[in-house]
Amino acid sequence: MTSEQRIRPAKPEEWEAILPLLQTMGGQCDEAARQRFARITQSDDHYLPVAVDDSHHIGYGWAQDYGPHLRTGDRTARLHDLFVLTSQRKGGIGTALFAAIRAWAEGRGVRYLEWQASHAAVPFYERLGYTGDPCPQPEYPFFEIEFPGDCGEPLR
Ligand SMILES: CC(C)(COP(=O)(O)OP(=O)(O)OC[C@H]1O[C@@H](n2cnc3c(N)ncnc32)[C@H](O)[C@@H]1OP(=O)(O)O)[C@@H](O)C(=O)NCCC(=O)NCCS
Repeated sequence: MTSEQRIRPAKPEEWEAILPLLQTMGGQCDEAARQRFARITQSDDHYLPVAVDDSHHIGYGWAQDYGPHLRTGDRTARLHDLFVLTSQRKGGIGTALFAAIRAWAEGRGVRYLEWQASHAAVPFYERLGYTGDPCPQPEYPFFEIEFPGDCGEPLR
């Protein structure tokens, strides 16, 4: 990360700025997606940080808190997306976005932060110290962090 780059939560009105990043990740980026983006960026159960460089959006992440388990009360959050523009990679931005998501999850009392990595991203997560479980999809290994301590239902 350079001194001009920073991580902050995305704003609902930033759809146009983040659209090229979402399109590179793939999927439907239509009007319905714009509405989902507006809802997600205003939802307390979601966290969508962006990496910005001056006025440019150069990366984003997205995680969702699924809430407490019915019987145990343990909260599980899932990291859905982590993306950095190709031209900006290997500069610490992915690490900073992941750290922000991890801190968000831990800060709200989540017990499990889970994600599945694309094959190409596995070395990145391994560089951060995480080892994926190849089940159930060997080509998309499953990762999980279990946070220590009493994580039962601090929010609701
Ligand atoms: C995965 C991704 C987010 C990493 O972003 P990044 O900004 O390049 O990551 P960083 O610069 O913080 O990398 C941290 C470390 O991992 C290493 N690393 C990153 N990507 C790597 C790769 N593909 N292979 C090997 N090492 C890699 C970096 O060199 C760096 O090592 P260092 O600490 O020795 O300098 C980025 O490559 C990306 O957007 N990929 C496409 C989307 C994707 O696959 N997302 C993950 C979905 S689960």
